[in-house]
Formats: sequence, structure tokens, C-alpha cells
Amino acid sequence: MEKRLLSGVKPTNRPHLGNYFGAMRQFVDLQDKYKTFIMIADYHALNIIKEKDQMSQNILDIALDYLAIGLDPKKVIIFKQSDVSAHTELTWIFDTLVPMPFLMRAHAYKDALAKDKEISVGTFNYPVLMAADILLYDTDIVPVGQDQKQHVEYARDIALKYNNQFGDIFKLPEPFIVKDLGIIPGTDGQKMSKSYKNTIPLFGTDEEIKKAVMGIITDSKEADEPKDPEACNIFALHKLFLSKEEQDALRQRYLKGDISYKESKEMLLSEIIKFIEPMRQRRLKLAQNINKVKKILKNGAKKAEAIANKKMDQVKESVGLVI
Ligand code: ADP
Ligand code: TRP
Repeated sequence: MEKRLLSGVKPTNRPHLGNYFGAMRQFVDLQDKYKTFIMIADYHALNIIKEKDQMSQNILDIALDYLAIGLDPKKVIIFKQSDVSAHTELTWIFDTLVPMPFLMRAHAYKDALAKDKEISVGTFNYPVLMAADILLYDTDIVPVGQDQKQHVEYARDIALKYNNQFGDIFKLPEPFIVKDLGIIPGTDGQKMSKSYKNTIPLFGTDEEIKKAVMGIITDSKEADEPKDPEACNIFALHKLFLSKEEQDALRQRYLKGDISYKESKEMLLSEIIKFIEPMRQRRLKLAQNINKVKKILKNGAKKAEAIANKKMDQVKESVGLVI
């Protein structure tokens, strides 16, 4: 049987270069190789977004983004998590099996605790819903950024525990993480993240992208001082766009003190704009026909639902709910 890929992004804010290079790009690159399911993780986003209109807008935006980066709805099942009720149903069944201390080890939960944030039950349970997303579709691989690896491991552990208890129902998924990419830094050098206000938006206007790039934090070395490329946030981002040879040439300029941070930022800005221009054009065109986008999601939900419901039948059978 054709191997399956499933992944998704939360519609919490505009996607950024970290999301694109860390995860979304792989969805597109792998869509011909796998039977691909790409979700809009709107139930996950509900933990964060409490504004009705913003939520709906974010969902449409991410749908447009998926199509604009090159996902082909003829090949890929693109759908909204909340359209397939099996995701929450399976979450409940897992909830009755998963011990609380196991979830207390999640990085996301520990970070939220450390930051003294109010933690909803939904946030605590986040990895269980994500496990349901993945396991419902007999997923083989889950392309995600490095920071989501632990969540895919949770899905594996939950599948193992379930299979041990109730029989061999779930396939064990593998994370797919691009080698050597690591975590893409934001303009302040921390992980680029929607939560840190340090992002370079993937579909920002020229002005927005310029503002973000020119605001990248560097040390205060003068133009003619030698600089360490590996310690430079701008250089880390150049690596996403430049060939190995181009990177080497730029590295030499850094080491020789032959480039100012300002010039390096200006170069980066034009690399980004050149790279995203075709995707941006596609997005503009798609945005003119939002009904078509909604239809794609409906259609995707129907296909996903057929598969997920079958799995749910097996699950209900296996725990003895079918009499
Ligand atoms: P954010 O941290 O901005 O809220 P999400 O949690 O929505 O991002 O992540 C969506 C996808 O993008 C995930 O697969 C995640 O691993 C990946 N990703 C997010 N930020 C980065 C980053 N800075 N570098 C690499 N991958 C990232
Ligand atoms: N937790 C993921 C993120 O923050 C989004 C997500 C939800 C996901 N369900 C998933 C990713 C299932 C892969 C598979 O990016």
C-alpha cells in the first residue's frame, strides 16, 4: 500500500519562514511520494485564539497558504481538523488510557508552567489530540520541525500502549525532520515563533518583511571588522536561500570584514522577496475565489472522514463499545 504522510499547522497567526522551511515546504516536496493528508489544526488553535472572526479568518488564510506554496488538492487531502469529528472522539478514548504524569513531561506544558501561564485542559491534552490526528490515518511519516518531535513520539507511545491493551489497531508513525536544518532563528536569535514576535512572515508585504529583516539583532561590529558568520542571525537565514558556493563566498566576506550587517540584511531581504514572489502571486489569485478554497476543504473533509470513521469503527470494536 502507498505510504501515508500526515501533517498540519495551527491557524494561530501568519506563517513565517520557520514554519515554511521547518515543515510546510516538506509537505509540498513529498506530496508526490506519499498519500498525503494536510490538516488545518483548528481545534489545536482554539487553545490560543478566542476571537470568532479571527479564527475563521486564520483558517481561510492558512488554506490559501497551503495552496499558494504548491499543495495540489487533486493529489493531497487538505482538510480542517474540526470537520472530522473522529479526531475528538479518538482523543477521548486515548484520554481514558493516558496517565497524567506522562503528559506532564511534555515540553510545551512544562514551558507554559514555567511561564506561569494559565493552562487550559485543552493545552494539557494537546499531545493526545495530536496523536489522534496522526493515528486515525495509519500515518507512516509526519513531517514537522524539530520542536514537534516530542509530539510525534507521544503519538508512537500512545499507539504502543493502545495496541498492547486492545490489539494491533494503530500503525507507529515516524517523524520526518529535515537534517541539519535545526531550529530557524527569529529576528532576536531565539526560535522563530508566532509566540515571540520575532518572525519574518512568509506572505508579508515588502514593507513588513523589510521591517523584520532590518530589525534582526546583531552585535555592534563595524562594517570593516571581521565577523563570525556562525554566530550571526542574518547568516543563519541566508543559508535557507543561498547555494553552498554562495554561502561560502558570503562566509569569506564575513571573515574578512568585507561586509556590514546592513548590507547583509539588504541582501537577505532581496533573497526572501525573490523566493516568495511566485507563491505570493499564486496566493493573490487564489484569494479572488474563496468559495473554491472552501470547496476544496469540504471535499478534503469528506475524504478524510471516510478513512477516519472506518478507523473509529475498529477502535470502538476493539474496546468493546460495539454490542
Ligand atoms: P510557532 O512556534 O510559530 O507557533 P507552530 O508550532 O505552529 O509554530 O509550528 C508549525 C510547524 O512549523 C511545526 O512543524 C514546527 O515544528 C515548525 N516550526 C515552527 N517554528 C520553527 C522554527 N523556528 N524552525 C523550524 N521549524 C519550525
Ligand atoms: N502541533 C503541531 C504544531 O504546532 C500542529 C499539529 C496538530 C500537527 N496536529 C498535528 C502536526 C498532526 C503534525 C501532525 O505545529
